[in-house]
Amino acid sequence: MEKERKLIIAGNWKMNKTGAEGAELAGQIKLDLGDLTEVDVVLCPPFTALDAVAKAIEESTLRLGAQDMSPSDYGAHTGEICSGMLREFGVRHVILGHSERRQYQEENDALINQKTKTALAAALKPIVCVGELLEQREAGETEAVVGKQLAGSLEGLSTEQMYETVIAYEPVWAIGTGLTATPDQAQEVHAFIRGQLAQQHDETIAKRIRIQYGGSVKPDNARELMSQPDVDGALVGGASLDAHNFVGIIKNTLN
Ligand code: PGA
Repeated sequence: MEKERKLIIAGNWKMNKTGAEGAELAGQIKLDLGDLTEVDVVLCPPFTALDAVAKAIEESTLRLGAQDMSPSDYGAHTGEICSGMLREFGVRHVILGHSERRQYQEENDALINQKTKTALAAALKPIVCVGELLEQREAGETEAVVGKQLAGSLEGLSTEQMYETVIAYEPVWAIGTGLTATPDQAQEVHAFIRGQLAQQHDETIAKRIRIQYGGSVKPDNARELMSQPDVDGALVGGASLDAHNFVGIIKNTLN
């Protein structure tokens, strides 16, 4: 599949896999993918499995990501993990503002903005998540909600910082539900996001930035979703816990 921007496919393992289980899964993915370079592939295990997964993917093109991080660099923040701790394991990407954190940890755009800036300052590449709830979509508020999340989460980023950032559009109603946005629904919001980035920043940033789709991505819907002009990859939850499914998603987006 010829795309303007290189696809980036990330597996968000959420609160699944011990270190041993994670190493096994990562090892299998590494084996099945071989030296794939056409797509950027990121594995995001829980913090406790980072070390084991980092070792399992040594000497491969796979990249390591984390699922969250503290907005602070160090100090009295019980239970938190900071950017320096992630970098110690070779983490390069960090998911920020996932809808589950917005919902269960009550994260808001201001906090996500702080985390994004902290990550960038530490040379980590943020994957900033946005997306509407079902009732918001039904009320015709998708663009208003996504636009506000985008503006708030990315406020004050420099051009260089924007180039390092990936956006993930994840309609909340499609996460873990088996309900996928249709390729047209995804494309519509991705185009809106790119348009807003052009307005808020500039055309070059909007053209370069990669926007992933997330929400029940599976091997059999991956190709159609990612062949949409403004869909530049996927953030995969459930299907990333199984090597066959995750590799299937990646391979189905190739020719
Ligand atoms: P899902 O999760 O693929 O299981 O729907 C996506 C996500 O939450 O990132």
